[in-house]
Amino acid sequence: MKERIESVLKQVEDFGSKTASEIESFRIEMLGKKGQITALFNEFRSLPGEQKRDFGKPLNELKKKASEKVLALKEAAEQNLDHSSGLDLSRPANFKSLGSRHPVNLVKNEIVSIFRRIGFNVSAGPEVEDDWHNFTALNFPEEHPARDMQDTFFVARDPDWALRTHTSSVQVRVMENNEPPIRTISPGRVFRNEAISARSHCFFHQVEGLYIDKKVSFADLKQTLLFFAQEFFGPDTKIRLRPSYFPFTEPSAEMDVYWGLENERDYRMTKGTGWLEVLGCGMVDPNVLKNNGIDPEVYSGYAFGIGVERIALHRYQIPDIRMLFENDLRFLEQFKAAY
Ligand code: PHE
Repeated sequence: MKERIESVLKQVEDFGSKTASEIESFRIEMLGKKGQITALFNEFRSLPGEQKRDFGKPLNELKKKASEKVLALKEAAEQNLDHSSGLDLSRPANFKSLGSRHPVNLVKNEIVSIFRRIGFNVSAGPEVEDDWHNFTALNFPEEHPARDMQDTFFVARDPDWALRTHTSSVQVRVMENNEPPIRTISPGRVFRNEAISARSHCFFHQVEGLYIDKKVSFADLKQTLLFFAQEFFGPDTKIRLRPSYFPFTEPSAEMDVYWGLENERDYRMTKGTGWLEVLGCGMVDPNVLKNNGIDPEVYSGYAFGIGVERIALHRYQIPDIRMLFENDLRFLEQFKAAY
């Protein structure tokens, strides 16, 4: 009996397999119903009393050792399994990849929020417009070149329906449906039949503003635009207004902000002047008010139109307007930090 206990003990000590199924067969061979250790216990029961004293302790120790070994090997095998399957439970979870805002929207949202703070509401209108809302109500003479096929995309060769060339069309709709005072901005996409290049595209975005009330003056327009420029470009921003022409405003102007002339890039961006052209504006032509049922003897107003892409190109130093509309994720993902 003594030798057999020692021989089984040696088998237990020598056993070193790592696969789960081998460990299980070993357990059955030792501790199962017909296992070697179970057999030793069966024999032990029929031994005479004095021999029981000699073998009881070593036999219990053998059983304990075998059980512990099986347990330890099984645990180790489970851990091995995790590694071999490439599962690393301590690895940090993957972060959800969030989208980013488009640079055109970033700039548009900022412009809108500046004007909302000084009491402008936001209006929207259709991208396909009729001649009245896009041109006639806005005092475009019949033979005005902007009506020419050069600039306008007509819908199905119908001269009465076109893709809007500016969001001034939305302001006509606001005037039609509201009494002054009117204080609104219309952000939106507009379309022009222009050659696509690094600087211009056949569609782009505008934020146009309209304010109509009693005694609105050019000084109000200038002060509002100065406020906008300093909110958007920084508190020390300087502006200048240059005389210009639009059919729907009189007088009309274009606003530049001073960008600086420190390096070659400034020269290129400002065409050597240091000034950056930002928007068109003017006092609403009395004919436009009349066309929309507003008495120009009682009311006056100002309007302005900001090109969103041009500002986005400068702000983010984007060299080519086409990059804005190619939906290249390598480009778009760079705006993740912006909001
Ligand atoms: N609608 C003009 C454009 O598209 C911009 C503008 C708006 C100019 C309002 C003056 C007043 O260029």
